[in-house]
Amino acid sequence: MAPSDIKQSNINMPQHIKDKTHLCHLVDISIRLTTEKDSSKLLNEILQVLMSVANADAGSIYSITKDKQLKFETVINRTLGLHLRGDENSPIDFPNIDLFVDGKENETAIVAHSVNSGKYINIPDAYDALPFDMSAARNIDSLTGYRTKSMLTIPLKDHVDEIIGVIQLINGKDENGNIISFSEELVTLTRSFASLGAISLTNSTLIKGMEELFTTFAETIAMAIDEKSPHTGGHCKRVPALTLMLADAVHDNNKGPLASFTMSEADRHELNVAGWLHDCGKIATPDHIMEKSTKLETIFDRIEYIDAKFEVIKRDINISYQQQIISSLKQNKPIEVKQLERLLDTELKQLSLDRALLKRINVGGEFLGESEIDEIQRIANRYTLEINGKTMPLLSDDEVENLSIRRGTLTESEREVMKRHMDVTKNILDALPFPKHLSNVSEYALGHHEKLDGTGYPRGLTKEQMSVPARLMAITDIFEALSAVDRPYKKAKPVSECLNILGIMVRNNHLDPDIFAIFIESEVYKKYIIEFANPEQLDEVDLDNLPGYSPIV
Ligand SMILES: [Fe+2]
Ligand SMILES: [Fe+2]
Repeated sequence: MAPSDIKQSNINMPQHIKDKTHLCHLVDISIRLTTEKDSSKLLNEILQVLMSVANADAGSIYSITKDKQLKFETVINRTLGLHLRGDENSPIDFPNIDLFVDGKENETAIVAHSVNSGKYINIPDAYDALPFDMSAARNIDSLTGYRTKSMLTIPLKDHVDEIIGVIQLINGKDENGNIISFSEELVTLTRSFASLGAISLTNSTLIKGMEELFTTFAETIAMAIDEKSPHTGGHCKRVPALTLMLADAVHDNNKGPLASFTMSEADRHELNVAGWLHDCGKIATPDHIMEKSTKLETIFDRIEYIDAKFEVIKRDINISYQQQIISSLKQNKPIEVKQLERLLDTELKQLSLDRALLKRINVGGEFLGESEIDEIQRIANRYTLEINGKTMPLLSDDEVENLSIRRGTLTESEREVMKRHMDVTKNILDALPFPKHLSNVSEYALGHHEKLDGTGYPRGLTKEQMSVPARLMAITDIFEALSAVDRPYKKAKPVSECLNILGIMVRNNHLDPDIFAIFIESEVYKKYIIEFANPEQLDEVDLDNLPGYSPIV
């Protein structure tokens, strides 16, 4: 309502809202109606505001359910000292009112009729309100001693004239406290505020709906990435959970350099969204790299191909020796036969050892030293096989390169492709027009591969350039990956080992020492392991000798 409208209406306003104080009151209640964001609180606010505008003694407000019923949201009766408020978890224990009975509009309940017709109903005496059935009101009155008399029922219409609820005001009063009918002027004013309330309610519902839609969308992207990766599945879901656990611990901590760090509910929500989106760029990472669980894996693990080549070579060796043995037998040279048999046995044993070595190296579970790299090269040069008349080495250059990966299962070029997930994440997040309350999502999400000394990616930020939540997510991202139990090719690490690796990264100025100390002292890692990993991983952690850790003082 514009101020000019208020001025206009003021001519015929009831006495209690005519003076300047009450005009201020009207402005105040307009603000109340337009600033409350929680829809349950807003319904309560609308009822109180309209009771105040109409100077009503009692009232109730109803919302419309998906099943076309009216549900009590708030009931107030000042004379009886009654104020019942329902919310999502504990609704008011009154039966809902059907808008339709046997497929026809419910004509006996005033509130239902008001909603179905879209009209307000102003009744001077409820006991004389035919054709409406007032038996329920009469019954309650007889129990409480209350007398329901004047009654104003107004449908709540939003900006597109859609009815989203209904309000019923009971027993209007004059300035002396006498019960009077609701005047037409008052009805006009009350309807205007009802409309304002309904629009606010729609806005809050729309905002909540958009918020839920976006959060669910972020979670869906994370689920799709987790689904894409059976080996690391669950990472995108667990990182936001661990991030919030650690962020809450930093919030609760009141010692050391991070004592002043606090988070509001809105900050938590923002960080949660960032957690869900932190690896969204992995949607574009090729599956065979993301899923590369062994060194030789492409779209299948080439160790089986090498195994088959070994099998062919083994047969070739056997055939070659058998031919020589047959020839020696024919020439009746038993000593030579014995020698050939010994040589064959030695060669097959060596082949078997070499085959086993490559299988073990292929897993990528341990760091490769110079001697193992030399061994791979020796094996590559030692065996040949003939395919289509062509002599081929046992291992191709690419197979040698992959098997010679010193740590993990990715070659340098594959590592670069993997790192690109952060460029894609950045592109996706940059393209999203985040509203103000989510404006930090990008900074938080993009920080999880940064290192405090500036050697991380994608932007090479230093500690000073990163927020606490971004530095925090760098820890939770690594801890989740280290402690994960769903990687079939690796045994889940005990926490002492995970914390040791994190601690070395802290010592090397890659991760934040203060957040790491809170991670340890709050025992968030224990709670996380119990809830999301395997409690058997919880071994003894030697805090006195944990690298990178110094107690918070
Ligand atoms: Fe990442
Ligand atoms: Fe991650």
